[in-house]
Amino acid sequence: MAFERDSLALVGEALDRLAEGFRGLPEDPAAGVGADVDVPAMREVLLEAATRMQDNFPYHHPLYAGQMLKPPHPVARAAYALSLWLNPNNHALDGGRASSAMEKEVVRDLAAMCGLAEHLGHLTGGGTMANLEALHVNGSERPGRAVLASEHAHYTHARLCAVLGIPFRTVPADRAGRMDAALLERELGTGDVGVVVCTLGTTSIGAVDPLADIARLRDRFGFRLHVDAAYGGYFTLADSLRASTRAHFDALSLADSLAIDPHKHGLQPYGCGCVLFRDPAMGAHYTHDSPYTYFSSPDLHLGEISLECSRPGAAAVALWATHRMLPLARGGDFATGLDLGRRAALDLHTRLAADPRFHVLDPPELDIVVWAARGPTASASSRRARAIFDAAAKIDLHLALARLPRAMWEGRAELAWDEAELTCLRSCLMRPAHASWIDAIFERLSRATDAG
Ligand SMILES: Cc1ncc(COP(=O)(O)O)c(C=O)c1O
Repeated sequence: MAFERDSLALVGEALDRLAEGFRGLPEDPAAGVGADVDVPAMREVLLEAATRMQDNFPYHHPLYAGQMLKPPHPVARAAYALSLWLNPNNHALDGGRASSAMEKEVVRDLAAMCGLAEHLGHLTGGGTMANLEALHVNGSERPGRAVLASEHAHYTHARLCAVLGIPFRTVPADRAGRMDAALLERELGTGDVGVVVCTLGTTSIGAVDPLADIARLRDRFGFRLHVDAAYGGYFTLADSLRASTRAHFDALSLADSLAIDPHKHGLQPYGCGCVLFRDPAMGAHYTHDSPYTYFSSPDLHLGEISLECSRPGAAAVALWATHRMLPLARGGDFATGLDLGRRAALDLHTRLAADPRFHVLDPPELDIVVWAARGPTASASSRRARAIFDAAAKIDLHLALARLPRAMWEGRAELAWDEAELTCLRSCLMRPAHASWIDAIFERLSRATDAG
């Protein structure tokens, strides 16, 4: 399969436009047209790099239906590349004036998508950094108190709390993988909870914690409410959510802070995450003095409200270009793409549910499907899932695996529990194209299951 390359010509044209802005400068032979590039040597190295990179799963192809990976939009790729001729640094306006302005615009777009009337926020290297900043700020607002998250929250929260020195506890989830609000309420009774992390779209199965209910508990117990929407946040634009899921997305604006990753569902190259705070006064937690930067303008330098110092302006330019082409609007092309991935997930789930070779969970809330292989025991089912995973990869269908607790499968899978967990097959159907590839995906899965 060939790669799209029309965007390469457009990068050339856009570079000419960029150069017009600097035409008053004297020519520099090392950097300008006909620059000092050893083309044959560079060609050799680039072709070697391309050969090395053949050893990757085909993330760009719809038969890659495994982990949470989505190719960037061509405009994001092109805009990112374009900006590298300047290599702006969005730490300070000194390093990235235009790209910092673009970052403020895209962060405003994301805040508006989440319904925030006011906000403070910036792009980050990814979901981990966005969550780190949110836990740091919320933890500082409630010093000495614990952070609670669902047992299915991303493992990053436990690790980040260890880094920050904040006590961390988990709350059990229900059979659908959502934080159990009644058990959360019981935990809150201990009186030592400062922050609750609500995950809108868990990494393993795309479950949506009951944000609207958790927000009501916040009103009673006074904790800070952080929403980890790193993977699921964009689904607030989707029209195909179940009413019960929609109710929790409609409560997004009640969060004190949010993490949302443009490099997951937002069609961006890695690394592009975003942290948002509902109250701009949270900027006070970042207060610091820099003897080296912030000289070029009295306007806000993003480094003044970010834990990371140097950050790629390229990420902001890429996201800005993507928002220009695909605005974050319900009913728009970007939102339709999310609905198509969801349709693919529901289609795959329906076929799996009707097939006696598999066990399924409830229909997916977002676009992740998880299923188990039939087997007499948990260990046999897990072995079978791994064999199917390997057999599928041999015929170019790339799936993922996940370990889920017994509690999620009891009553759904008749097997003897000789192990506490089940290794299951997992598929993140994140691209619009997946909607028209489910026939091909299921046909290969079927073959791999018979072979595995
Ligand atoms: C819900 C959630 N939070 C946090 C993260 C960590 O994000 P990143 O890998 O961008 O650091 C992930 C990654 O999959 C995630 O799904």
